[in-house]
This record gives sequence, C-alpha cells and structure tokens, in this order.
Amino acid sequence: MSSQIHRSYVTTPLYYVNARPHLGHSYTTILADVFKRHRSQRGEKVTFLSGTDEHGEKIEQMAKSQGKDCLEFANEIAQDFLCTWEKMGISFDIFYRTTDSNHALAVQHALQTLKDRGEIVFREYEGKYCVGCERFLNDSELNDQGFCPDHLKKPEPRKEANYFFLMSKYQNALIEHMEKNPQSIRPEHYRQEMLSFLKQPLTDLCISRPKERLKWGIELPFDSKFVTYVWFDALLNYLVATGWPGKNWDKELWESVNHLIAKDILKAHSIYWTSMLLALGVKPAKELHVSGYWLVDGTKMSKSLGNVIRPIEVEEKFGRDTLRFYLLREMSYGLDSTFTLEGYINCINAYLANGIGNFVSRVYTIAKKNLGTVSFKENELTETDRNLLSLRTKTRDAWDAGFTELKYQNAIKAWSELVTSCDLYVNEMKPWALAKDPSQTQRLHVVMGVCLRMIQSLGALIAPVLPNTAKAIAIALNLEERAFEQIKNGFEDRTYFTLTEDVPRLFPRVQIPAPETD
Ligand code: MSP
Repeated sequence: MSSQIHRSYVTTPLYYVNARPHLGHSYTTILADVFKRHRSQRGEKVTFLSGTDEHGEKIEQMAKSQGKDCLEFANEIAQDFLCTWEKMGISFDIFYRTTDSNHALAVQHALQTLKDRGEIVFREYEGKYCVGCERFLNDSELNDQGFCPDHLKKPEPRKEANYFFLMSKYQNALIEHMEKNPQSIRPEHYRQEMLSFLKQPLTDLCISRPKERLKWGIELPFDSKFVTYVWFDALLNYLVATGWPGKNWDKELWESVNHLIAKDILKAHSIYWTSMLLALGVKPAKELHVSGYWLVDGTKMSKSLGNVIRPIEVEEKFGRDTLRFYLLREMSYGLDSTFTLEGYINCINAYLANGIGNFVSRVYTIAKKNLGTVSFKENELTETDRNLLSLRTKTRDAWDAGFTELKYQNAIKAWSELVTSCDLYVNEMKPWALAKDPSQTQRLHVVMGVCLRMIQSLGALIAPVLPNTAKAIAIALNLEERAFEQIKNGFEDRTYFTLTEDVPRLFPRVQIPAPETD
C-alpha cells in the first residue's frame, strides 16, 4: 500500500576504506545531503544512506602494509568517514558497513538464489586485472599506453578458475530498460554512453576470488574456497538496507531510490547492478545521478595520485557551509570541474561575504539601531516593494527547476541574483536617509520589513545548501528554525520582526594566502 507522503531514498556510493575522506567523496555526500534537505522542505520523507565498502584486495593489501588486521583497519577508516560526515552536519539516516553480519547473510542469499536459478557458472578465465578497479578490464577500456585510465597503472595478466554471473544474458534487457526509462541514468549523455557501450557484446561478470589470493571477503555459500567479488558484495547494500530479502522488505522505499555517484562507477551501477537486480527479480533503481570529477592540477583527485584535499581542514579554515556552496555553484553537474583555492576564496567573497553576508548585516544594523522592532501593514507596501517580494516566487521556481533538472548551478545563480536585487532595492530606498528624517519613520518600518522578509525567504531557499547560515538567520530574526522546513506553498510572510540578537556576521571576507616559500 502506498503512503500519502511522497518518499525518496537517496544513496551515496559506499566509499572504500583504503583512503580517508577527501573532497571528491565530500562532493557526492554533500549533494545527497542537499538533495535530502531540499526534498524534505517540499514535504517528502527522505531516507539517506551512506557508508563504507570494506572488503577486497585493495583493503587487504593496505591493512597488511600497515601490519594491521583487516577488520581493525576497516574499523578505523569507517570511523573516520562517519566522524567526518557528522562533523560536517551531513544528515544521513543509515551508515552502512559491508562488514556487518546481516549484510554477509543477504549477499549469500543473493548468490545462492542466482546459483540455484542457473545464473552463476564456474569457468576458467584469463585477462588483465586492475587491482584499483578490482576487476578485469577489456582492451577497449585501456588508454593508449595500455594503462587503466582511472588508476594510471598497467593491469596485471591473470588466469584463474572462478564463478561467473551470466550477465551477458541481460544485454537486451539492459538496453530495453535504458531506452524505456530516460530518467534511469542522468544527465542524458551518460545514458547514451552506456547505450553505446551495450552495442558491443556484453561479457559475463566474474563474481568470485579464490581464497588463496584473497581472504578478505564474504565466503561463497556454495564453495568455501572462494570469496565474493567486492562489487557484487557492495552493490547489494542499497537493497539490503531497505530490508531485502526479509519479510519486512520496504519495497516502496527501494523503488524510490536515487543513486548518486561519479562517472568512475557508472558501469558498475548501470550494467552490473541493473543486471543483478533483473536476475533477482527486483525492479532496477529508479534514477542514477552521475557527476563528473573534481580535478586538482588537471587530474582526478584520489589517494593513489596523492593530490588530496581534506574537507574538514577546508571547512575549519574557511568557514562552515562555504565548501557546500562552492562545490554546488562551481560544478556543472555531469561534467568535470577544477578545484582551485583561488576560485573557492573568490566565490566566498563575492557571493557569501559581499553577497548575502553583507546584505543581512547591513539591514540588521540599520533596523536594529533605528527601530529594534519592525512593524508594518500589508497595505503600506508600494509597487516597488511588492515587485521585489514577488521575485521570490520566480526564484523558488527557478531553484526547484534547477534541482529537478540536476542543474544545481542554475539554482544557486537564481538565488544569488535575488540577493543582488535586494541590494539594489536597499541602494534605491536609502534606509539610512529615511532614518534621519522623523517624518519617514513608518516608511523605514516598511522598507526594513520588506528586507527582513527577503532575508527570511533567502534563508529558507538556501537552507538545504547553507543549513548553518539558515539557522543563524532564523535565530537573528527570532524565528523558529521550523519556519524553513516547509516552503512548498510559498513563503511565510510576517508584518512584525523583533531584532534582539547581535548583528549576524555570516561570512567574514577571506584573504588569498600568500604562496608558501621553501
Ligand atoms: N566502493 C566503491 C563504490 C561501491 S558502491 C556500492 C567506490 N568507492 S570510492 O571510495 O572509490 O568512491 C568513489 C566515489 O567517490 C565516486 O563515484 C564519487 O562519488 C566520489 N569521488 C571520489 N573522488 C572523486 C572526485 N575526484 N570527484 C568527484 N567524485 C569523486 O568506488
């Protein structure tokens, strides 16, 4: 039975525990958080899953190199991810770890089901194996030098007998699914990329690793000499977290899933995962949202390449919420983007310090100093006042359209334009001059009232992206934070504001640090 309230399920990838959280992981996690907060504001009930992927050769190798037991090692890094997201105020509901015993049982159930249905067979295979990707690569996937394009390493030749999931059977079903469901992979060019990949014959998927080579994994239920391939194990998390295969499986939640990933794991999600679900008789994921990479110095940021930016360090240095704003504003969703310190600082100064920060402190200072309590009547609003106020609906529609179309940049730009319109209004109304003229006191109330309404609405709109800023605005305006929760049907307009707090200093200007000299 479907409930009245619309539900959504949003997931990040389960991050490997061979690296500490960096900016790349933060982007997807922040985006999932923004997604949840935005949809919750529009009245949906959203469940947000993140977590860690803890098995496989990479993890085993890294634990060994540090002289640690695999689980002890995984526990440390999983804790690091969990604490990072908590410190950053990420609103996840489920933190999933693939080393949980419940997960292993569900993975074994899936494997046994597919084996019993004849979907898994045993055979010998020879190919080129990339440990970074944890899989065999086809020649067509290698770069000109014969290297893995993501890990910039030559894959090792390997020959071994293994279990295979008969993924090739699903080639036509995958094409049909992608063609019938244009929303299933977004933005569109990634769906086209996968459809064109599926023009080549699809191979079967090797889903086991012999224990003599890898012990750190979930044992196959039908052959104790093997463990499960880490991707087959990890992908199931999304479904298992909804209660599958138990009696209380929340099918409705599963069928509302939006997987957020970057393009590095597009194939694993759109091809492996979808065919696994089809084979298990479960409906494929509703939507897959695929981002490009954050680049630093022209290459993908990753632990193996050593060009890593730590989100917590950046937040501590440049202020809460600023990273969220920059990442969403800077990246054109689906394409690669380059992180530069200079760009980040310029963005903070231009849109946050000089933009909303300046507007709020300017209005608050004048209103508090001259009025303390702002009070006016609806019929005192002039046409210019109403025009400014009416821009909010347009901005909210542009904002929502940006989210629906995965054009987050457009949403943020529309919001920044509204801040600019507010600034222009203040410049035109000259409240500092009204304050000097006793005959204009009531007009000052109206002008300040309009500005405070605008601040309240700007806070409500931006709350998913700048939750701490929205909170500070709510406190300054003596509003309950709840005021920002539901803006589905418009903005809650007031004719009365009491300003008893200190002037909010939302975003101090940031200086570009001088280059370090050795
Ligand atoms: N463990 C697998 C995912 C299994 S999901 C069932 C994995 N882990 S990962 O730690 O490598 O994370 C990859 C994901 O981290 C990307 O898909 C993306 O969400 C995020 N990013 C990591 N580096 C990134 C960039 N430089 N840029 C953008 N996103 C990046 O793959």
